[in-house]
Amino acid sequence: MTMDKPYLDVPGTTIFDADQSAKGYHLNQFCMSLMKPDNRARFIADQSAYLDEWELSPEQKQAVLDLDLNECIRLGGNIYFLSKIGATFGLSFQQMAGSMTGMTEAEYRDMMLAGGRSIEGNRIRDALAARIVEQGYAAPSPAAEAHPTISASVYTSHVPAIGAAMDLGKTEEPYWKAVFDGYEWSRQWMADNTPDVVILVYNDHATAFDLHLIPTFVIGTGPHFPVADEGYGPRPVPPVEGDPDFAAHLAQALILDDFDLTLVNEMAVDHGLTVPLSLMFGERPPDEPWPCKVIPLAVNVVQYPVPHGARCYALGRALRRAVESYDKPLRVQIWGTGGMSHQLQGPRAGLINREWDNAFLDRLISDPAGQAEVGHLNYVEEAGSEGIELVMWLIARGAMADIADDGGPGAGTTEVLHRFYHVPASNTAVGHLVLANHAAQDPASGPAAPTQE
Ligand SMILES: [Fe+2]
Repeated sequence: MTMDKPYLDVPGTTIFDADQSAKGYHLNQFCMSLMKPDNRARFIADQSAYLDEWELSPEQKQAVLDLDLNECIRLGGNIYFLSKIGATFGLSFQQMAGSMTGMTEAEYRDMMLAGGRSIEGNRIRDALAARIVEQGYAAPSPAAEAHPTISASVYTSHVPAIGAAMDLGKTEEPYWKAVFDGYEWSRQWMADNTPDVVILVYNDHATAFDLHLIPTFVIGTGPHFPVADEGYGPRPVPPVEGDPDFAAHLAQALILDDFDLTLVNEMAVDHGLTVPLSLMFGERPPDEPWPCKVIPLAVNVVQYPVPHGARCYALGRALRRAVESYDKPLRVQIWGTGGMSHQLQGPRAGLINREWDNAFLDRLISDPAGQAEVGHLNYVEEAGSEGIELVMWLIARGAMADIADDGGPGAGTTEVLHRFYHVPASNTAVGHLVLANHAAQDPASGPAAPTQE
């Protein structure tokens, strides 16, 4: 189904959703700038000149100059942000609210003293009745039939040194060739099966999020995500193009499904997201766009508490429901990244556990529900402090068709197309899987590729 927005029918009301947020992004950011005394002083001194510093439309600028809050809201403003404008001119919230009602200040104050505006005549049915009188009755249009298909899930380490090896032209050196040989099949397969959108599960490595803010699950809802400078300068790869409409749908579906994602309109993406893109799509200069859109889905695995594997696995199942309820026929892949065993800190740095890693791969394929029950301590003890990143693979795995909504056996099947494991890449073990997803009604079942160890 298309995104359900019953709130559009509430009379005299604009709900601030993803569409409004996108429309009013710069307007609301301008409002936030008025939190600083120096900016307020500059705005008061020359409103037009100050507004010219912001990427506002002519209509938005005029609405601010007119202090027309209804128009500002129509153009994407949110009242909590817009209130900074009123505050700058010393207006109370009651004066601002009253200014939007067509009443004088005294009339509005008197109405509030008399008990406030009545709900009678202000319900959804009243707005619908008024619309029918005005426009006549229009039958709802039939629901669109086309929905996205999740064609595959991809799992890979996202070691920063792999990106550096590609950026510095070292991929043919014997040390690195042994790593990249494991991705040759995947690159050809990806070239033949390029999706429209990748939902890329990764973690931020103290890049977009510092200790001011530690969201557990983040969905990137913006149109663009620049490549981060992690201290070495930004990687020479293209910026990421998002899919704000699809991401807004996923956010609404997942939040209403009890997964409280943090919505992030603006963030730089680090090696956790760009290295998998490089591994799967190959070398690509910054001015040559990635071949598909990417929706970042970031998971906190840096500061405890981090989400349990079972929660990640459940999020994957909810993600599939969310994807399949969108109303465009997109080809979608879900990627889980991070791991495998590695420890980057302390006297135990350099820890690798081949046996545990390969058991993880086996179980992720054949018993993901069982793997989802494994606690953090087992990851940390056996796969190293940074091996905890592997819980993110369970999100991608949970979205596959062989798993039912309740976590039991699903009606579809999953096929292992490619498997690779190698030690080392810098401080880590490299793991990689490509799983085809065959929904119940999908008769396609291609041949499996050779498995590598
Ligand atoms: Fe990582």
